[in-house]
Amino acid sequence: GVLVCVVGARPNFMKMAPIFKALQEVKHLIKPYLVHTGQHYDQAMKDTFFQQLGIPEPDTDLGVGSGTHAVQTANIMLKFEPVLDEVKPFAVLVVGDVNSTIACGLVAVKKQIPLIHVEAGLRSYDREMPEEINRILTDQLSDLLLTTERSAADNLLKEGISEQRICFAGNVMIDSLLHNCKQASSFTETLRNYGRSQKVAERNYALLTLHRPSNVDDPVTLERLIKVVSEVSEKLPVIFPVHPRTQQKISQAGLLSVLSEERVIMLPPVSYLEMLGLMQTAKLVLTDSGGLQEETTALGVPCITLRENTERPITVTEGTNTIVGTDPAKIMQCVEEVLINGGKSGRVPEYWDGMAAQRIVAEIIGRYLTDN
Ligand code: UD1
Repeated sequence: GVLVCVVGARPNFMKMAPIFKALQEVKHLIKPYLVHTGQHYDQAMKDTFFQQLGIPEPDTDLGVGSGTHAVQTANIMLKFEPVLDEVKPFAVLVVGDVNSTIACGLVAVKKQIPLIHVEAGLRSYDREMPEEINRILTDQLSDLLLTTERSAADNLLKEGISEQRICFAGNVMIDSLLHNCKQASSFTETLRNYGRSQKVAERNYALLTLHRPSNVDDPVTLERLIKVVSEVSEKLPVIFPVHPRTQQKISQAGLLSVLSEERVIMLPPVSYLEMLGLMQTAKLVLTDSGGLQEETTALGVPCITLRENTERPITVTEGTNTIVGTDPAKIMQCVEEVLINGGKSGRVPEYWDGMAAQRIVAEIIGRYLTDN
């Protein structure tokens, strides 16, 4: 049967790649059909990821682009429905928590097509986060919920989702990381690639990413954060690949001049292999991303999360992650701790072992394609 697989935004690509690889092994049973919604469309946000991760060209690109949440979600729904009418899949598989995830999930379920959600059950319990709404709703719609950490099942059970629908499969984002670690670009190569000549030494720089609406859309919060970044950069150089949304907000707020060009190395959005390399040899990572919290835990690199909460608690309880929020004093204290004693050490969580995609594919075959 045909399995429609949906990707839309950058963090979806590294989750879908290992699933596609695992599906290659069962071609006689499952024919994958890849839909890209076009939520992310820049070359730097999409094409290089497809190439590096070895994801095939999508069978359909809905080309929706940016917009308000309602516009983006509605456009994806309108364009996705005819694809299902034509392809008639036995199920639709979505990953993560972006607008493409909920939009396509809702369309599938209304057509009585079973929905499979990879990375189910994560909760920040912060409903101001658009992703939290997407997670809660997608999980309610899903027939099969594949989780990355054990706490996710507890969240789902509390929301009334039956245990039979939940399967702990592990973390596909870490599948990608483990498969690609060795091919990562070194940080020196990356800096050279973007024409940066600043002197930076291995394990002596901070890597920064910032793009959550709660951090970058409000000029007051953004200014506070940018000033802390400037303070951090007095301790060690900061490498900062900038998300398009953040780039716009920093320029609009007139904050570019706060950052020393010598000490804060701003880059455009970097490729997957460049990002892996930048993480691997960083002294510490400062981020508001969900994925980086997990990747740093898998790599054993200290992560300071610039948010008040996390939907990935295992990165804190077992991994290298610390949740600090946006208070400048707390951020500086945490950075100094890492510089003095190396920061939190951690271990790699259960089933973050490079085999999650295989488990997922086996579960799908067992549930949907075996008569019993
Ligand atoms: C989306 C996801 C977020 C994820 C992030 C990773 C939702 C609700 N959010 O947020 O969970 O962590 O992707 O990147 O789905 N833009 C470009 N080029 C692109 C894509 C976007 O320039 O290829 C700009 C546009 O001006 C757009 C803005 O970035 O308005 C935001 O893009 P959007 O897809 O709406 O959300 P993200 O902030 O990227």
